[in-house]
Amino acid sequence: MNASNRVGPRALAALLPDLDRQSGPRYRALSSALTALLLDGRLAGGTRLPSERDLAAQLRVSRATATAAYDDLASNGMLLRRRGSGSYLILPAAARVAGPGARMARNPLTQDTIDLSIASLPAVPGLLQAATLAALEPLGRLAAADGYHPYGLDELRDAVAARYRMRGVETSREQILITNGAQHAFDLILRALVSPGDRVLTELPSYPGALEAIKAHSARTVAVPLSAAHGWDSGAIANALLQTAPRLAYLIPDFHNPTGSLIPTAQRRQTAAAARRSGTRIVVDESFIDIDLRADAERIESPLPMAALDPSGFSIGSLSKPIWGGLRIGWIRADVADIQRLAVARARGDMSGAVLEQLVALELLRDLDANLGPRLAQLGEQRDALLAELTRRLPGWRAARPAGGLSAWVELDAPAATPLTHLLEHRGILISPGSRFAPDGALERFLRIPFALPTPRLVEAVAVLAQTWTELDPKRHARTETSLVTA
Ligand SMILES: Cc1ncc(COP(=O)(O)O)c(C=O)c1O
Repeated sequence: MNASNRVGPRALAALLPDLDRQSGPRYRALSSALTALLLDGRLAGGTRLPSERDLAAQLRVSRATATAAYDDLASNGMLLRRRGSGSYLILPAAARVAGPGARMARNPLTQDTIDLSIASLPAVPGLLQAATLAALEPLGRLAAADGYHPYGLDELRDAVAARYRMRGVETSREQILITNGAQHAFDLILRALVSPGDRVLTELPSYPGALEAIKAHSARTVAVPLSAAHGWDSGAIANALLQTAPRLAYLIPDFHNPTGSLIPTAQRRQTAAAARRSGTRIVVDESFIDIDLRADAERIESPLPMAALDPSGFSIGSLSKPIWGGLRIGWIRADVADIQRLAVARARGDMSGAVLEQLVALELLRDLDANLGPRLAQLGEQRDALLAELTRRLPGWRAARPAGGLSAWVELDAPAATPLTHLLEHRGILISPGSRFAPDGALERFLRIPFALPTPRLVEAVAVLAQTWTELDPKRHARTETSLVTA
């Protein structure tokens, strides 16, 4: 623990909201505020807090209030008391890692846990048959050679290239590199193109796994807020590109995670033009492109793929969302010279991808639409059921109906998503606050709610969400407290 991380009573008071304006017990308001400071990154894990007596004097509250707040933090696993050396804020294991890592850091899930922290589905039913077919003739044929294919299997590269051609973008096998998923794909691009201190532009909010990867490469994130309607504010993106000249821009124009937005062609075109002027390479993450929940009539109007508008850019894709995350198959589409450079970076890391999984992916790609049809219909129903239930139980919250993807981006009626998710975890619901989708812990007013679980589980989750919010929200909380006292 870093001993120099210490916050004095006056500095801490300046960070805290006015406790007189919070209703409910004061100690709870104080512990919630300290929790929010920690989880938002405004106080680092390991920070030494003032003594209870000093904090109480500074805040003009009783010593018992400060003690009760610290007790509350300690019982939630967020405070470490060391005899003789003070009290330290600590991040509970679950909160320490954003994105997919958050789940890795948790204890094993129990059967009753409702896990809304990850937007992913179980495997399509065709997986077993595809695995059986792949393990027969094709594997036997390939097993006669050495099995190292740093660019991926030619047949799979062809199949992926054919899907780009179907979308109207001329693409050859040589422009495709098969990777172990989209996360691996983005990591490779960062490895090949970005040096420590370089800037990488992202949307705000953006996918936590990408934000983590940028940070892990010691690059600086330039986050540009989405517009109020959750689309690209292409004027703001163009300004940020021209002013900061980032090395890369990481964007999710096709059913953005977390908002589900689909960006129209005009804004894609404007962004591609600005990136050309600023010398920025664009990476588009198309992981969700097949999770298209629009009606058939709307699909006719699909925007042009970024690869058509920005020929020197990178597109990354994955079978994790349409097929199964356990397959670990993704890819990069780029020009041939970039693909060669990325293959060199890839060989240094993991040599080559697994052959059997690529063969299974090939089988599944043949019937992707048949495999996906029922799944999309069900997802559409789950999305609508989630939104209806939110409207019914939490009318003060707002959520746009996402055109695709696996989650709704929900705006709460108070900026308290982190304390809410923390309380929910104790009630068996894992869910990501908006701050997970920001590089600096902002977006406290938002919650990402995936609709990948069956409708009854979503209905159950919203009931717990509503109850917990009532207890947490200052105004409603006051009402509940009063009714408890008078009951
Ligand atoms: C936008 C986005 N990109 C990439 C990934 C990671 O995908 P993969 O499993 O293909 O590595 C995810 C997973 O949630 C995602 O949401």
